[in-house]
Amino acid sequence: MPSRPLQQRAARRKGPRKPGPIRIAVLHGPNLNLLGGREAEHYGTDTLEAIDRRLEAGGRKAGIEVATFQSNSEAALVERVQAAKSDGTSFIVINPAAFTHTSVALRDALSAVRIPFIEVHLSNVHAREPYRRESFVAPVCVGTIGGFGARSYTLALDAVLDLVEEKAHS
Ligand code: DQA
Repeated sequence: MPSRPLQQRAARRKGPRKPGPIRIAVLHGPNLNLLGGREAEHYGTDTLEAIDRRLEAGGRKAGIEVATFQSNSEAALVERVQAAKSDGTSFIVINPAAFTHTSVALRDALSAVRIPFIEVHLSNVHAREPYRRESFVAPVCVGTIGGFGARSYTLALDAVLDLVEEKAHS
């Protein structure tokens, strides 16, 4: 899929879309609150705060609301996904972190709400321990982006914006 940077996409539009209708939830799983000081060789040096602010700014430029959420708790993530069903969320970007490889509950929640989502990883999980190669959510996601550090998130948001735009013109 051709991908344009967020800034170019915003410039291509006549003006920002009116805030409100399009809402994207960006969800982060356990230990991602430690980004910045956590195993920089795998996860880079950007803090989660910096990543979230960048995504929110990218969304604002494109006239889309980006709502971010992080939790170390599987239950809280499941509840956040369930809440997306009724809060107007059109798309989810999620890095389930370790729950990627363990959580049937999170996968079931993502399937149940029927909101399209992209699975994101900072590291290339396929180049690491074998147990990281299995993803419970991969079979039900639109696509997976991983291995690009914090850029994995901006690439995912870029893809979402493309898909949303495509849908609006179909
Ligand atoms: C991760 C990869 C997972 O295997 C790991 O448990 C994480 C982060 C990533 O972003 O690369 O916590 O999802």
